[in-house]
Amino acid sequence: MHQKFLELINVGKSFTRGSTTTEVLKGVNLEIAKSQFVSVIGHSGCGKSTLLTMIAGLELPTAGSVCFKEREIEKPGQERAVVFQNHSLLPWRTVKENVLLAVNAVFTKDSKAQRLARAEKWLEKVGLKDHQNKFPHEISGGMKQRAGIARALAMEPEVLLLDEPFGALDALTRSTLQDEVLRLHIENHLTVFMVTHDIDEAVYCSDRIVMMNNGPRATIGKIVDVPFARPRERMAVVESEEFAHIRTDCLRFLFSRKHGGGDAPAPAAVPAA
Ligand SMILES: Nc1ncnc2c1ncn2[C@@H]1O[C@H](COP(=O)(O)OP(=O)(O)OP(=O)(O)O)[C@@H](O)[C@H]1O
Ligand SMILES: [Mg+2]
Repeated sequence: MHQKFLELINVGKSFTRGSTTTEVLKGVNLEIAKSQFVSVIGHSGCGKSTLLTMIAGLELPTAGSVCFKEREIEKPGQERAVVFQNHSLLPWRTVKENVLLAVNAVFTKDSKAQRLARAEKWLEKVGLKDHQNKFPHEISGGMKQRAGIARALAMEPEVLLLDEPFGALDALTRSTLQDEVLRLHIENHLTVFMVTHDIDEAVYCSDRIVMMNNGPRATIGKIVDVPFARPRERMAVVESEEFAHIRTDCLRFLFSRKHGGGDAPAPAAVPAA
């Protein structure tokens, strides 16, 4: 039988502080096939990052299970790499050293030269070849984010977990990095799980968009398929009727959840990508 790749089965998550327990997520069911690009949208605090950290294995569900290749995820693993919004590079290490640290942790049997070659290959892929010997404070926000992506991909993960990876970047840098991630997604058959607040980003990048209801006890409200063929050509995609249609669908969902129920009318004037 065909092996399931990534699965969330009736997942719930509660946090307890003192005598108060908050049930953040409840009954979340989702199956992600290999090489699929899935984005998650939903209002702040609904539990998107919590979902991602459980796939990363940094948190465990308090109900149900999160499975990778039909085995329950119990801890972080090199096959599931995470990129957070705030890059989290070590400030006292150069860009190359930051990537090397990840490579060293994974490719323990490689020689020193082979590991160095791996780090350099990924830095080149994200366009940081000329900046690899700089320290994080010496490069721009976009470059730091690229370094974070290079570090994640240098581990040659099967799943890339992105938590608002481009949120802090200007529009041009953001679209450049989106295209880079999309290219790497195709080249490396990566499965991507991305949390974002940017609807256009979700529609442009994804095969499926998961819309979360508000918490507490948040569940999946709706899932839409995004049919554009890959590789995607940005202007052709964003100018298409289908793009506008899916985008409106997402906005309508978010607005309806904001007002607490029913399908709200589509918001009239929200600027396009
Ligand atoms: N370690 C924790 N301990 C206690 N509560 C937590 C913890 N992590 C998350 N929460 C709570 O769980 C809820 C969901 O948080 P989460 O960070 O997953 O939201 P989010 O959807 O990613 O929001 P945002 O869009 O603002 O990033 C919030 O109410 C948050 O306070
Ligand atoms: Mg979050």
